[in-house]
Amino acid sequence: MLSLASVTKRYGSLTALAGVSLNIERGEFFGLLGPNGAGKSTTMSLIAGLRAPDTGTLTLDGQPLNAGSAVARLSLGLVPQHIALYSELNADENLRIFGSLYGLSGSDLRARIDAALEAVQLTDRRRDAVKTFSGGMQRRLNLVAALLHRPKLLLCDEPTVGVDPQSRNAIFEYLEQLNRDGLTIIYSTHYMEEATRLCSRIGIIDHGKLHALGTLDELLTKLPFEEEIRFPATPATAALAAQLPAHGELTTTTDGLHRFRPHPATKLSSFFSLAESHALPGRLFTSQRPTLEALFLHLTGRTLRE
Ligand SMILES: Nc1ncnc2c1ncn2[C@@H]1O[C@H](COP(=O)(O)OP(=O)(O)OP(=O)(O)O)[C@@H](O)[C@H]1O
Ligand SMILES: [Mg+2]
Repeated sequence: MLSLASVTKRYGSLTALAGVSLNIERGEFFGLLGPNGAGKSTTMSLIAGLRAPDTGTLTLDGQPLNAGSAVARLSLGLVPQHIALYSELNADENLRIFGSLYGLSGSDLRARIDAALEAVQLTDRRRDAVKTFSGGMQRRLNLVAALLHRPKLLLCDEPTVGVDPQSRNAIFEYLEQLNRDGLTIIYSTHYMEEATRLCSRIGIIDHGKLHALGTLDELLTKLPFEEEIRFPATPATAALAAQLPAHGELTTTTDGLHRFRPHPATKLSSFFSLAESHALPGRLFTSQRPTLEALFLHLTGRTLRE
Protein backbone atom coordinates (compact mmCIF):
# COMPACT_ATOMS: atom_id res chain seq x y z
CA MET A 1 0.00 0.00 0.00
CA LEU A 2 2.69 2.46 1.11
CA SER A 3 6.28 2.26 0.06
CA LEU A 4 9.32 4.29 1.08
CA ALA A 5 12.47 3.69 -0.97
CA SER A 6 15.83 5.04 0.27
CA VAL A 7 14.24 8.13 1.75
CA THR A 8 16.62 10.78 3.07
CA LYS A 9 15.69 14.02 4.78
CA ARG A 10 18.08 16.69 6.00
CA TYR A 11 17.48 19.83 8.02
CA GLY A 12 20.52 21.94 7.14
CA SER A 13 23.54 19.86 8.13
CA LEU A 14 21.49 17.45 10.26
CA THR A 15 20.43 14.20 8.61
CA ALA A 16 17.06 13.35 10.18
CA LEU A 17 16.40 10.34 7.92
CA ALA A 18 19.23 8.42 6.30
CA GLY A 19 18.02 6.08 3.56
CA VAL A 20 14.86 4.61 5.04
CA SER A 21 13.14 1.87 3.02
CA LEU A 22 9.86 0.42 4.19
CA ASN A 23 6.76 -1.26 2.80
CA ILE A 24 3.44 -1.15 4.61
CA GLU A 25 0.69 -3.57 3.57
CA ARG A 26 -3.01 -2.80 3.67
CA GLY A 27 -4.54 -3.65 7.05
CA GLU A 28 -1.29 -3.50 9.00
CA PHE A 29 -0.95 -1.90 12.41
CA PHE A 30 2.64 -0.81 12.02
CA GLY A 31 4.71 0.58 14.89
CA LEU A 32 7.61 2.98 14.55
CA LEU A 33 9.52 2.65 17.80
CA GLY A 34 12.34 4.99 18.71
CA PRO A 35 13.53 7.56 21.26
CA ASN A 36 13.43 11.38 21.04
CA GLY A 37 14.95 12.68 17.84
CA ALA A 38 14.96 9.26 16.13
CA GLY A 39 13.13 10.58 13.05
CA LYS A 40 9.58 9.39 13.75
CA SER A 41 7.82 12.72 13.17
CA THR A 42 9.98 13.43 10.15
CA THR A 43 8.88 10.09 8.65
CA MET A 44 5.23 10.89 9.40
CA SER A 45 5.46 14.37 7.89
CA LEU A 46 7.03 13.01 4.69
CA ILE A 47 4.28 10.39 4.34
CA ALA A 48 1.62 13.01 5.06
CA GLY A 49 3.13 15.21 2.35
CA LEU A 50 3.91 18.08 4.73
CA ARG A 51 7.56 17.93 3.66
CA ALA A 52 9.38 16.58 0.63
CA PRO A 53 12.32 14.16 0.93
CA ASP A 54 15.78 15.23 -0.25
CA THR A 55 16.29 11.91 -2.00
CA GLY A 56 14.28 8.71 -2.36
CA THR A 57 10.65 8.12 -3.24
CA LEU A 58 7.36 7.55 -1.44
CA THR A 59 4.44 5.87 -3.16
CA LEU A 60 0.88 5.12 -2.11
CA ASP A 61 -0.83 2.34 -4.06
CA GLY A 62 1.86 2.72 -6.69
CA GLN A 63 1.31 6.47 -7.17
CA PRO A 64 4.06 8.92 -6.18
CA LEU A 65 3.23 10.78 -2.98
CA ASN A 66 4.07 14.35 -3.82
CA ALA A 67 3.82 17.04 -1.20
CA GLY A 68 0.42 18.69 -1.72
CA SER A 69 -1.08 15.80 -3.73
CA ALA A 70 -4.88 15.85 -3.43
CA VAL A 71 -5.19 12.06 -3.68
CA ALA A 72 -2.80 11.65 -0.78
CA ARG A 73 -4.60 14.28 1.26
CA LEU A 74 -7.88 12.40 0.97
CA SER A 75 -6.36 8.96 1.55
CA LEU A 76 -4.35 9.86 4.62
CA GLY A 77 -5.17 11.08 8.09
CA LEU A 78 -2.48 12.52 10.36
CA VAL A 79 -2.80 12.69 14.13
CA PRO A 80 0.02 15.11 14.88
CA GLN A 81 2.30 14.76 17.89
CA HIS A 82 1.46 18.27 19.06
CA ILE A 83 -2.25 18.86 19.53
CA ALA A 84 -3.57 20.86 16.60
CA LEU A 85 -6.97 22.17 17.68
CA TYR A 86 -8.51 25.62 18.04
CA SER A 87 -8.56 25.99 21.80
CA GLU A 88 -11.07 28.87 21.92
CA LEU A 89 -13.59 26.91 19.86
CA ASN A 90 -15.69 24.01 21.12
CA ALA A 91 -15.33 20.36 20.08
CA ASP A 92 -18.16 20.55 17.58
CA GLU A 93 -16.79 23.67 15.88
CA ASN A 94 -13.33 22.15 15.68
CA LEU A 95 -14.63 19.04 13.95
CA ARG A 96 -16.74 21.15 11.58
CA ILE A 97 -13.58 23.01 10.50
CA PHE A 98 -11.61 19.79 9.98
CA GLY A 99 -14.51 18.23 8.07
CA SER A 100 -14.92 21.22 5.77
CA LEU A 101 -11.17 21.16 4.99
CA TYR A 102 -11.92 17.77 3.43
CA GLY A 103 -14.97 19.01 1.56
CA LEU A 104 -17.55 17.55 3.95
CA SER A 105 -20.74 19.48 4.73
CA GLY A 106 -24.42 19.28 5.60
CA SER A 107 -26.09 16.24 7.13
CA ASP A 108 -23.21 13.96 6.15
CA LEU A 109 -20.74 16.03 8.14
CA ARG A 110 -23.24 16.35 11.00
CA ALA A 111 -23.64 12.56 11.22
CA ARG A 112 -19.89 11.96 11.06
CA ILE A 113 -19.25 14.48 13.84
CA ASP A 114 -21.93 12.85 16.04
CA ALA A 115 -20.37 9.43 15.50
CA ALA A 116 -16.83 10.72 16.09
CA LEU A 117 -17.73 12.41 19.38
CA GLU A 118 -19.60 9.32 20.50
CA ALA A 119 -16.67 7.04 19.63
CA VAL A 120 -14.33 8.94 21.95
CA GLN A 121 -16.88 9.68 24.67
CA LEU A 122 -16.98 13.43 24.15
CA THR A 123 -20.65 13.85 23.21
CA ASP A 124 -21.57 15.53 26.49
CA ARG A 125 -18.66 17.99 26.17
CA ARG A 126 -19.24 18.93 22.54
CA ARG A 127 -20.29 22.51 23.29
CA ASP A 128 -17.36 23.23 25.61
CA ALA A 129 -14.30 25.17 24.51
CA VAL A 130 -11.36 22.86 23.88
CA LYS A 131 -9.19 24.89 26.28
CA THR A 132 -11.37 23.55 29.12
CA PHE A 133 -10.61 19.93 28.14
CA SER A 134 -8.13 17.71 29.97
CA GLY A 135 -5.03 16.61 28.06
CA GLY A 136 -6.57 13.19 27.44
CA MET A 137 -9.79 14.68 26.08
CA GLN A 138 -7.82 16.93 23.72
CA ARG A 139 -5.84 13.91 22.52
CA ARG A 140 -9.06 12.02 21.79
CA LEU A 141 -10.49 14.96 19.84
CA ASN A 142 -7.18 15.39 17.98
CA LEU A 143 -7.48 11.73 16.97
CA VAL A 144 -11.03 11.80 15.59
CA ALA A 145 -10.35 15.07 13.75
CA ALA A 146 -7.98 13.06 11.54
CA LEU A 147 -10.63 10.42 10.82
CA LEU A 148 -13.68 12.42 9.71
CA HIS A 149 -12.85 12.06 6.02
CA ARG A 150 -12.43 8.27 6.46
CA PRO A 151 -8.82 7.92 5.33
CA LYS A 152 -7.41 4.54 4.23
CA LEU A 153 -4.19 5.11 6.14
CA LEU A 154 -3.96 6.72 9.56
CA LEU A 155 -0.70 8.18 10.81
CA CYS A 156 -0.60 8.46 14.61
CA ASP A 157 2.41 10.36 15.92
CA GLU A 158 2.79 9.56 19.63
CA PRO A 159 -0.94 10.01 20.25
CA THR A 160 -0.88 9.10 23.95
CA VAL A 161 1.82 11.41 25.32
CA GLY A 162 0.55 12.99 28.54
CA VAL A 163 -2.57 10.82 28.64
CA ASP A 164 -3.65 9.01 31.82
CA PRO A 165 -3.83 5.18 31.70
CA GLN A 166 -7.63 5.12 31.37
CA SER A 167 -7.79 7.50 28.40
CA ARG A 168 -4.79 5.73 26.91
CA ASN A 169 -6.66 2.46 27.06
CA ALA A 170 -9.72 4.05 25.45
CA ILE A 171 -7.50 5.29 22.60
CA PHE A 172 -5.93 1.83 22.18
CA GLU A 173 -9.30 0.11 22.03
CA TYR A 174 -10.62 2.62 19.52
CA LEU A 175 -7.56 2.21 17.27
CA GLU A 176 -7.73 -1.58 17.54
CA GLN A 177 -11.39 -1.47 16.49
CA LEU A 178 -10.59 0.79 13.52
CA ASN A 179 -7.80 -1.56 12.48
CA ARG A 180 -10.10 -4.61 12.73
CA ASP A 181 -12.53 -2.71 10.48
CA GLY A 182 -9.78 -2.43 7.86
CA LEU A 183 -7.94 0.82 8.55
CA THR A 184 -4.18 0.68 8.02
CA ILE A 185 -2.36 2.40 10.86
CA ILE A 186 1.20 3.65 11.32
CA TYR A 187 1.81 4.41 14.96
CA SER A 188 4.93 6.06 16.34
CA THR A 189 5.92 5.76 19.97
CA HIS A 190 8.84 5.60 22.34
CA TYR A 191 6.92 3.23 24.63
CA MET A 192 7.81 -0.37 23.94
CA GLU A 193 4.66 -1.44 25.84
CA GLU A 194 2.50 0.35 23.26
CA ALA A 195 4.31 -1.16 20.30
CA THR A 196 4.13 -4.60 21.92
CA ARG A 197 0.42 -4.37 22.60
CA LEU A 198 -0.80 -2.73 19.43
CA CYS A 199 1.44 -3.43 16.50
CA SER A 200 1.45 -6.41 14.16
CA ARG A 201 4.84 -5.30 12.86
CA ILE A 202 7.40 -2.95 14.31
CA GLY A 203 10.26 -0.90 12.90
CA ILE A 204 13.00 0.15 15.28
CA ILE A 205 14.31 3.59 14.38
CA ASP A 206 17.21 5.59 15.79
CA HIS A 207 19.31 8.43 14.40
CA GLY A 208 17.28 8.38 11.18
CA LYS A 209 17.93 4.71 10.39
CA LEU A 210 15.69 1.67 10.58
CA HIS A 211 17.71 -0.79 12.64
CA ALA A 212 15.28 -3.71 12.54
CA LEU A 213 11.88 -4.54 11.12
CA GLY A 214 9.54 -7.42 11.86
CA THR A 215 6.88 -8.92 14.11
CA LEU A 216 7.58 -8.87 17.83
CA ASP A 217 8.65 -12.52 17.74
CA GLU A 218 10.91 -11.98 14.73
CA LEU A 219 12.55 -9.01 16.40
CA LEU A 220 13.16 -10.81 19.67
CA THR A 221 14.95 -13.65 17.88
CA LYS A 222 17.61 -11.09 16.92
CA LEU A 223 18.73 -11.07 20.54
CA PRO A 224 21.56 -13.42 21.42
CA PHE A 225 19.64 -14.74 24.44
CA GLU A 226 16.12 -16.08 24.79
CA GLU A 227 15.38 -15.50 28.38
CA GLU A 228 16.87 -13.47 31.19
CA ILE A 229 16.97 -14.52 34.80
CA ARG A 230 16.81 -12.18 37.78
CA PHE A 231 17.64 -12.91 41.37
CA PRO A 232 18.52 -10.88 44.47
CA ALA A 233 22.13 -9.75 44.83
CA THR A 234 22.79 -10.94 48.39
CA PRO A 235 25.66 -12.67 50.22
CA ALA A 236 23.78 -15.96 49.73
CA THR A 237 23.87 -15.64 45.94
CA ALA A 238 27.39 -14.20 45.71
CA ALA A 239 29.11 -17.52 45.01
CA LEU A 240 26.67 -18.32 42.19
CA ALA A 241 27.05 -14.81 40.76
CA ALA A 242 30.82 -15.23 40.74
CA GLN A 243 30.52 -18.28 38.46
CA LEU A 244 27.98 -16.83 36.01
CA PRO A 245 30.17 -14.60 33.81
CA ALA A 246 31.60 -17.81 32.33
CA HIS A 247 28.10 -18.74 31.12
CA GLY A 248 26.62 -15.44 30.00
CA GLU A 249 26.32 -11.76 30.71
CA LEU A 250 25.74 -10.74 34.33
CA THR A 251 24.74 -7.22 35.37
CA THR A 252 23.31 -5.74 38.54
CA THR A 253 20.24 -3.53 38.34
CA THR A 254 19.79 -0.39 40.43
CA ASP A 255 17.14 -2.15 42.53
CA GLY A 256 19.58 -4.73 43.89
CA LEU A 257 18.95 -7.59 41.49
CA HIS A 258 21.37 -9.59 39.41
CA ARG A 259 20.30 -9.93 35.81
CA PHE A 260 21.73 -12.88 33.92
CA ARG A 261 21.50 -13.29 30.16
CA PRO A 262 22.80 -16.73 29.23
CA HIS A 263 25.09 -17.28 26.23
CA PRO A 264 23.22 -19.07 23.42
CA ALA A 265 25.02 -22.31 24.32
CA THR A 266 23.95 -22.14 27.96
CA LYS A 267 20.84 -24.19 28.72
CA LEU A 268 18.41 -22.91 31.33
CA SER A 269 18.48 -26.37 32.91
CA SER A 270 22.25 -26.12 33.45
CA PHE A 271 21.75 -22.70 35.07
CA PHE A 272 19.29 -24.21 37.50
CA SER A 273 21.57 -27.16 38.34
CA LEU A 274 24.30 -24.62 39.11
CA ALA A 275 21.90 -22.74 41.40
CA GLU A 276 20.95 -26.01 43.08
CA SER A 277 24.61 -26.85 43.69
CA HIS A 278 24.73 -23.66 45.78
CA ALA A 279 21.62 -24.82 47.67
CA LEU A 280 19.63 -21.83 46.38
CA PRO A 281 15.87 -22.39 46.19
CA GLY A 282 14.10 -21.93 42.84
CA ARG A 283 11.79 -19.24 44.22
CA LEU A 284 14.71 -16.77 44.31
CA PHE A 285 14.79 -16.73 40.51
CA THR A 286 12.42 -15.17 38.04
CA SER A 287 12.90 -15.65 34.35
CA GLN A 288 11.54 -13.33 31.77
CA ARG A 289 11.28 -13.09 28.01
CA PRO A 290 13.45 -10.30 26.70
CA THR A 291 11.70 -7.09 25.72
CA LEU A 292 11.94 -4.62 22.88
CA GLU A 293 13.86 -2.40 25.28
CA ALA A 294 16.59 -5.06 25.52
CA LEU A 295 16.60 -5.37 21.74
CA PHE A 296 16.85 -1.63 21.29
CA LEU A 297 19.82 -1.52 23.65
CA HIS A 298 21.42 -4.45 21.83
CA LEU A 299 21.00 -2.82 18.40
CA THR A 300 21.84 0.78 19.21
CA GLY A 301 23.69 0.77 22.52
CA ARG A 302 21.10 3.25 23.81
CA THR A 303 17.90 3.00 25.82
CA LEU A 304 14.53 4.13 24.48
CA ARG A 305 14.25 6.80 27.15
CA GLU A 306 17.60 8.52 26.62
N1 LIG B 1 12.08 21.57 11.54
C1 LIG B 1 13.26 21.10 11.92
N2 LIG B 1 14.39 21.82 11.77
C2 LIG B 1 15.60 21.34 12.14
N3 LIG B 1 15.80 20.13 12.70
C3 LIG B 1 14.72 19.36 12.88
C4 LIG B 1 13.39 19.79 12.52
N4 LIG B 1 12.52 18.82 12.84
C5 LIG B 1 13.26 17.82 13.36
N5 LIG B 1 14.56 18.13 13.40
C6 LIG B 1 15.66 17.26 13.88
O1 LIG B 1 15.58 16.04 13.16
C7 LIG B 1 15.81 14.92 14.01
C8 LIG B 1 14.59 14.00 13.97
O2 LIG B 1 13.50 14.69 14.54
P1 LIG B 1 12.04 14.07 14.62
O3 LIG B 1 11.15 15.16 15.10
O4 LIG B 1 11.70 13.43 13.34
O5 LIG B 1 12.25 12.97 15.75
P2 LIG B 1 11.17 12.13 16.59
O6 LIG B 1 11.56 10.71 16.48
O7 LIG B 1 9.81 12.50 16.15
O8 LIG B 1 11.44 12.64 18.07
P3 LIG B 1 10.40 12.87 19.30
O9 LIG B 1 10.18 11.53 19.95
O10 LIG B 1 11.18 13.78 20.21
O11 LIG B 1 9.17 13.49 18.76
C9 LIG B 1 16.10 15.50 15.38
O12 LIG B 1 17.50 15.57 15.54
C10 LIG B 1 15.50 16.89 15.33
O13 LIG B 1 16.21 17.77 16.17
MG1 LIG C 1 8.21 13.29 17.10
